[in-house]
Amino acid sequence: MRISIGAIAVVAMAITNMSVALAGDPAAATSKAKTLCAACHGPDGVSMNPLWPNLAGQKEQYMAKALTDYRAGNRTDPTMAPLAKTLTDKEIEDLAAYYAGL
Ligand code: HEC
Repeated sequence: MRISIGAIAVVAMAITNMSVALAGDPAAATSKAKTLCAACHGPDGVSMNPLWPNLAGQKEQYMAKALTDYRAGNRTDPTMAPLAKTLTDKEIEDLAAYYAGL
């Protein structure tokens, strides 16, 4: 099987576009994260309860997917699902970028 340079370039461009499309604005998420998420996930994204996950340094795309899944009902949790339903796409992207940068 031969793979052309052109095909590789197309794939590389698609990957680049995906990450650009997901670039959230961490600054925009700061106040929501501090008021809404910090209560459980900690002011620095490190939780103090063994049942609440750390979010600091979490992969941005993983976190955006987790929140989208809670919101869509593809991932269920009695605490996170109702919270995720209050978030817009932009807030999810911004929060994911914010926690990825901690
Ligand atoms: C009342 C406590 C509470 C609050 C407030 C809360 N969370 Fe959570 N969060 C949890 C718990 C508990 C889990 C683990 C749920 C599970 O097992 O799926 C979780 C899981 C998550 C996960 C998945 C982590 C992983 O590793 O898969 C993300 C992402 C997340 N929360 C983001 C947020 C964001 C963003 C906010 C603010 C909008 C927030 N949470 C507010 C309790 C909370």
